[in-house]
Amino acid sequence: MAALTFNNVWKRYDQVEAVKNLNLDIRDGEFLCLLGPSGCGKSSSLRMIAGLEFISEGEISLGGQRINELEPRHRDIAMVFESYALYPQKTVYDNMANPLRLRKMSKDEIDRRVKETAAILEIERLLGRRPSQLSGGQKQRVAIGRCLVREPKAFLFDEPIAHLDAKLRARMRGELKHIQKTLGTTTVYVTHDQLEGMSMADRIAIMRDGVLQQVATPHEIFNRPANVWVATFIGDPPMNVLNAEVQTADGGLVARAPEYTIAIPDRQAAALSNARLTDGKVQIGIRPEALRLSQTPDAAHPIAGRIYAVQPLGDVEIVDVRVGDERILVKTELGTIQNEDIDVPVFMGYKPEKLYFFDAVTGEAVYE
Ligand SMILES: Nc1ncnc2c1ncn2[C@@H]1O[C@H](COP(=O)(O)OP(=O)(O)OP(=O)(O)O)[C@@H](O)[C@H]1O
Ligand SMILES: [Mg+2]
Repeated sequence: MAALTFNNVWKRYDQVEAVKNLNLDIRDGEFLCLLGPSGCGKSSSLRMIAGLEFISEGEISLGGQRINELEPRHRDIAMVFESYALYPQKTVYDNMANPLRLRKMSKDEIDRRVKETAAILEIERLLGRRPSQLSGGQKQRVAIGRCLVREPKAFLFDEPIAHLDAKLRARMRGELKHIQKTLGTTTVYVTHDQLEGMSMADRIAIMRDGVLQQVATPHEIFNRPANVWVATFIGDPPMNVLNAEVQTADGGLVARAPEYTIAIPDRQAAALSNARLTDGKVQIGIRPEALRLSQTPDAAHPIAGRIYAVQPLGDVEIVDVRVGDERILVKTELGTIQNEDIDVPVFMGYKPEKLYFFDAVTGEAVYE
């Protein structure tokens, strides 16, 4: 086991800057998710750790030692690919034993490690089968097993469950987390799926266009996003963002849009007036689950809109509300709005402490 460090790391492919000055400390034993949309540089970062991609600039170290120049096979790192890369003609046992045989390990030691690993992964009864006789989830476990037997210092996963169906993905999230926590091996897990990051990681490193945006626990990323982009990338449905102008009114600050005025809580007002927003333009963030709906207007429900559509989801429903040119999603109790209520007026309320404010130009979050 060992910590992994990126020090001012760049990855360039000709004209493309895939990873821009990445600085990241992955702790010993940590499960770190590298999260971001397609093309943001996740795989490039991971492949540089594995040694499958040349590091254009900067340094990566494992356990305090620079690994830039080390051959992939000398890095003591195991990478699990999405396409399991199992040998189709070999049994599960032989697939797992193979990397150890290549290292000229003794038969007894190989047997011990394969069986021990199979027990951890609960695939003992599959050892005699060939990959074609396994389900997707089982193949996944064998692929992990084949990495595990080597007892590597770190595990790398690149979207390992992206192609599985939703039900199996949900199960595999739990499985992979269980395995990682049991072994305590430093793990870097690449995904574009915020739900995987939120549910599995000790910490999330979130990237956009090759630039690291924030590194924090899932809880902190969700509750204290660094900027509006992170705020809207995390959460399902994503955070609503409203455009408004900050103005003074009655000795305090308000955020004003043509259709509504939102009083800015005192603790954020001070920060907002210090933040010197460009042209006073602000973006207000509010998560769908933090909004409340009312059919009648009152002071507690100051944002007026009209129902656009409702999506019942079994236990809750997502209400899509049109406010001027903007659309706001509200997650609320099932049955609040009926399918037929299209264009019906509705009024939204919120707890002031649930509001987020972002500089409309830089996107940076403004906290008290
Ligand atoms: N071998 C290559 N040659 C040229 N450009 C590349 C190469 N590999 C990746 N890129 C570019 O580098 C950028 C980052 O790619 P990367 O594969 O790291 O993204 P990613 O975050 O893993 O995306 P995805 O979620 O789609 O897998 C992209 O713009 C991609 O087109
Ligand atoms: Mg990728």
